[in-house]
Amino acid sequence: MSTPQLRHQPAYSAVADHHAAIAGMSLRTMFADDPDRSANFGMQGCGWHLDVSRNLITSDTLALLFSLAQQCGLPDRITDMFAGAPVNTTEGRAALHVALRMPRNERLVVDGVDVVAQVHEVLDHMASFATAVRSGTWTGFTGHKVRHVVNIGIGGSDLGPVMACGALAPYADSDISMHFVSNVDDNDLGGVLRTVDPACTLFIVASKSFTTSETMANARSARRWLVEALGDEAAVARHMVAVSTNAEAVAAFGIDTGNMFGFWDWVGGRYSLASAIGLSTMIAVGPDNHADMLAGMHAMDEHFRTEAWPGNLPVVMGMLGVWYRNFFHADTTGVMPYDARLARFPAYVQQLAMESNGKRVTVDGDAVDHATAAVVWGEPGTNGQHSFFQLLHQGTMLVPVDFIVVANSPHPMGSHRDLLVANALAQSAALAFGRTADEVADAGTRADLVAHKVMPGNRPSNMLMAAELTPYSLGALVALYEHVVFTQAVVWGVNPFDQWGVELGKDLAGGIAAAINGDDTPQLDPSTAALVSRYLALRRDELRRD
Ligand code: F6P
Repeated sequence: MSTPQLRHQPAYSAVADHHAAIAGMSLRTMFADDPDRSANFGMQGCGWHLDVSRNLITSDTLALLFSLAQQCGLPDRITDMFAGAPVNTTEGRAALHVALRMPRNERLVVDGVDVVAQVHEVLDHMASFATAVRSGTWTGFTGHKVRHVVNIGIGGSDLGPVMACGALAPYADSDISMHFVSNVDDNDLGGVLRTVDPACTLFIVASKSFTTSETMANARSARRWLVEALGDEAAVARHMVAVSTNAEAVAAFGIDTGNMFGFWDWVGGRYSLASAIGLSTMIAVGPDNHADMLAGMHAMDEHFRTEAWPGNLPVVMGMLGVWYRNFFHADTTGVMPYDARLARFPAYVQQLAMESNGKRVTVDGDAVDHATAAVVWGEPGTNGQHSFFQLLHQGTMLVPVDFIVVANSPHPMGSHRDLLVANALAQSAALAFGRTADEVADAGTRADLVAHKVMPGNRPSNMLMAAELTPYSLGALVALYEHVVFTQAVVWGVNPFDQWGVELGKDLAGGIAAAINGDDTPQLDPSTAALVSRYLALRRDELRRD
């Protein structure tokens, strides 16, 4: 029997009534009534402290949200996911990213196969290759050490590695520079190729399917550039490796499958950082640091699986997301890392949350009668303060924000970090407590400007804080958001592990590309046909080359 949808769960009306009852309360009053609110709404997990006290909640709210999660079946769904049940129902397979970070001595048998043993076999292969590249034992076709690694991939085959390599840059202790090419725009690959020496460049073609058109176009152009520069097809074997589940396509492309690092169909693209897709990260930071990242992920997996919900970071953050999305109708949510190393973290979470939970039907194929994923976006602080925070403070939308703060920097510079953290805390306080008309007037503001300077406050935020950004704490942060997304998927009743919505655009692009190429193709709709003609009129054919 299928689980009733969110609004038909008994706890839903209890949460809705509670929402109506606390509508008039303000965070100022809540803190005045409970000076220990920060402690009462604080929790720890895997090196991260989460303070949810600046949310529009009372002590009853989380309890009610937990009963909702319970009624939606979260405990069983967690058990199913960790056991390797086929939770990706539309594709009939497991979603076992948690197995990618299980320690070597654990076993998880799915369909008669110990997947943990398989995972560690690939990790060992990656580690010996990464060590050889880092040490210079692996050389290019002309005997040179690798100085540049170019990861060619898109979506989950790009965002995880580029985010992790940025976050862990201070751990990148080799003389190898990392580059990421995702876009089929020739400026992307072209821009990188202009800066690297073919004799010292290793390309990692990262694609779960090995059919993604953008990645394959970039891989083909990279191979042509290599062969032209080094003068021999045989150079490909020393300069191109693959990360994929599709050995046949890798071989057909011309990469020796001995230089392929495999993973499995039970790893979703946006959940693949801990798989071989993380090869570039391992080369950058070394196998030991990479293992620490997996340990941080595993610690958060265990925290999610076993911690009682009042102290369970993913469940608390996930249910707060449901609170704002379904009861306050918040359409967007911000992820604001106050650490430049996490500059790509918002983009990473954006794919994770929006590709997973941007769904309009339940796992049973029924139209949902509630809102699902919000738009996720963000930028590192303090930059965001000087662009879009104005809207967060005084605009007409409620935008819940996650602030992510790291107390220490590996490159301390005077009071920079104190100033950075002060700004994160100030923004969260300004959102929560605002500024009343009386306070504005008392500060000597001209009467006609008072209304302009009032800050309404009561705008919620989470504060995540860690002492250091290490491979371990980064791994825990990534797994935290993965499980936030899973928690919300269960409550919304959707399958977070498929992404049928991206297929139509891919199919259409194939037909339009064929039309641009002058091939015999199915009819284009008149509006697309007109735009194709416009493009062909503007295009300078002499600049094209396949
Ligand atoms: O954009 C859709 C998508 O399928 C993502 O889910 C995935 O991360 C990305 O494309 C790349 O896919 P692949 O790794 O197969 O090239």
